[in-house]
Amino acid sequence: LAADHVRIVEVGPRDGLQNEKTSISPEIKTELVRRLAKTGLETIEAGSFVAPKWTPQMASSDKILESILRQPPESSKPITYQWLLPNMKGLENFFAVQDAHASGSSKASDYPTPPTSPSSDSGPALNTSSNDPNAMPSTTSGVDAMSSSRGSSSIPPQHEVSIFLAATESFSKKNTNCTIQESLDRFKPLIRSSLEQGYGVRAYISVALGCPFEGPDVDPHRVAELAATLLEMGADEISVADTTGMGTAPRTRELLRTLQSAGIQSADLALHFHDTFGQALINTLVGLEHGVRTFDSAVGGLGGCPYSPGATGNVATEDLVYFLHSLGVPTGVDLDEVSRIGDWITGQIGKPNESRAGKATLAK
Ligand code: HMG
Ligand code: MG
Repeated sequence: LAADHVRIVEVGPRDGLQNEKTSISPEIKTELVRRLAKTGLETIEAGSFVAPKWTPQMASSDKILESILRQPPESSKPITYQWLLPNMKGLENFFAVQDAHASGSSKASDYPTPPTSPSSDSGPALNTSSNDPNAMPSTTSGVDAMSSSRGSSSIPPQHEVSIFLAATESFSKKNTNCTIQESLDRFKPLIRSSLEQGYGVRAYISVALGCPFEGPDVDPHRVAELAATLLEMGADEISVADTTGMGTAPRTRELLRTLQSAGIQSADLALHFHDTFGQALINTLVGLEHGVRTFDSAVGGLGGCPYSPGATGNVATEDLVYFLHSLGVPTGVDLDEVSRIGDWITGQIGKPNESRAGKATLAK
């Protein structure tokens, strides 16, 4: 398999935590992001700006964003942070955090401050000092932010917006209370405004390989049509999501062939597998064989969509890294480090560590 590099999009802090019923503190969430930033990952989905009534766990995402703006996490390479949002209200809230930070009006003491020394397993730092000498000047533009760092040992991050719609009407209604067409209508101004402000846009297509309400036979042509429309509207990347984990190798192949026949380039695609039926890695191989080089995963195998009953976590980052490295495909991600993080975060939230490769790596 001739693949020079695969980019892993770590969605643990968002997809991994959004479904947790017990409120997780912003300190723990921020600490998770900061630990992940040191592993060699290039892209981390750090939170979402959705309606808090719908997904209460993500209500503190503004605090995570502010913390990242105030002190970019230490990392060995530039990191892009993704922020999931469904509508203009979400985009406005995302911009408001950036604007408050840029104007110095955000209440820094309300936000978690990162530890000053390298993180230990003892848990997040609760120090909330607001006089941070490494604070990065921020602007409302993700592009400007890249070039405006000074005096920080951290690498200034980029920020991106991720939007989501569904391939079936039933799931669209359950997850976003609107039709697929209404989602597309919402996205037109949202994508335009994001791009104008210098933010890249990723778009998810949920339930592409099976719907909890309509079953496994989701029309691949419908998925291809939506992908083409979203790309035409200006999205930079389409993450094709197997929300329910119902995808099998033959149907993943059929979907990827259909996307290719519709003119969708593999370079514009990412694959987002939930591992409910344990098929995520075999489906990843099918994706690799079709030229896809971006895959989403969550450390510790955390996660699930609150509006997809029975669906479990994303494929574990540790399992994905182990698998790709076994194929000789570099990811730049440190397996030992992500294994420790998977163990730490699942312990913090009282969940079993779902990554076999992670557990085996730690047992070595
Ligand atoms: P709605 O109830 O139809 O919205 O929900 P609305 O416009 O009528 O507003 C209702 C209230 O929510 C109002 O407040 C709005 O201001 C507020 P009130 O007047 O009642 O006080 N509101 C918001 N507040 C903060 N941020 C916002 C926002 N929007 C409205 N962005 C809506 C429609 C789309 C908002 C809702 O359905 C929603 O938030 N859905 C998201 C559900 C969710 O988080 N799902 C999980 C993420 S998607 C996922 O996991 C799949 C993925 O991983 C890929 C895969 O695996 O498939 C990405
Ligand atoms: Mg998901």
